[in-house]
Amino acid sequence: MGLNIRQASVIYPSADGRPPVEALRKIDLEIVNDDFVVALGASGCGKSTLLSLIAGFLSPSSGEILLDGSQVQGPGADRAVVFQKHALLPWLNVIDNVAFGLKLQGVDEARRYEIARGFIKLLGLGDFETSRVYSLSGGMQQRVGIARALTCDPKVLLMDEPLGALDALTREKAQELILNIWSSTHKSVFFITHSVEEALFMGTKLIVMSPRPGRIAHRFDLPFSRQFLGGTPAREVKASREFIALREEVLKIIFSDEEAAA
Ligand SMILES: Nc1ncnc2c1ncn2[C@@H]1O[C@H](COP(=O)(O)OP(=O)(O)OP(=O)(O)O)[C@@H](O)[C@H]1O
Ligand SMILES: [Mg+2]
Repeated sequence: MGLNIRQASVIYPSADGRPPVEALRKIDLEIVNDDFVVALGASGCGKSTLLSLIAGFLSPSSGEILLDGSQVQGPGADRAVVFQKHALLPWLNVIDNVAFGLKLQGVDEARRYEIARGFIKLLGLGDFETSRVYSLSGGMQQRVGIARALTCDPKVLLMDEPLGALDALTREKAQELILNIWSSTHKSVFFITHSVEEALFMGTKLIVMSPRPGRIAHRFDLPFSRQFLGGTPAREVKASREFIALREEVLKIIFSDEEAAA
């Protein structure tokens, strides 16, 4: 059960006289139970393409994507996406943005506000329910996007560089918040980042992808998010010898891949 990606390949057809792009080749990946899978890799190696396959925005050229044993046929409420840029509706206030997916599903107003309020509180936005989203800071807007993704109670949460635009301090706080939510809601997560430190801290599993064609070149099991959730302060986890050794190992892999591709 959970998400099974089997031998999935994606070839974008040729356009504007350019040759076709083999974006992914024979990806095998399982995201089950409360796995928190993080993808790292150079720009263009196919991370967002892989997320689009899982989200159902895109079909594989070959291979298959199974969710609880059934083929993914398109987008669905069982998978929610948080983008780098929040994609909120600027003319609506916070609660109406958060409740938007439920409205589309036809949930009545009282019930959808009740559900939305719970997630707004969980994300620490309780005082901003009726604020317009454009009056919020970038970090707060991103939290509104995460609350909106959670309201439909998806099985899988897909996040494409959700914290990339935040300053260092806000980003660390947001990492901790996401881990706390993940541990209390027991979702499967697929999370893309360009930060090696963020990847190691957040994930239970790490995939490092290599470009042209995009493949999973390395896989690691990670203990660090569970250490944080077990009570070790985040900075202490990130400063531990084990963390630093793995960070350097992964950085070396990424730099050597980039040099090989250059
Ligand atoms: N719609 C599309 N049509 C044609 N080619 C595409 C399309 N989307 C992506 N590509 C190509 O597929 C490859 C993988 O792109 P993708 O966006 O998945 O990479 P990425 O790893 O997410 O990169 P980044 O880290 O920059 O976000 C790239 O070479 C890209 O140019
Ligand atoms: Mg991308």
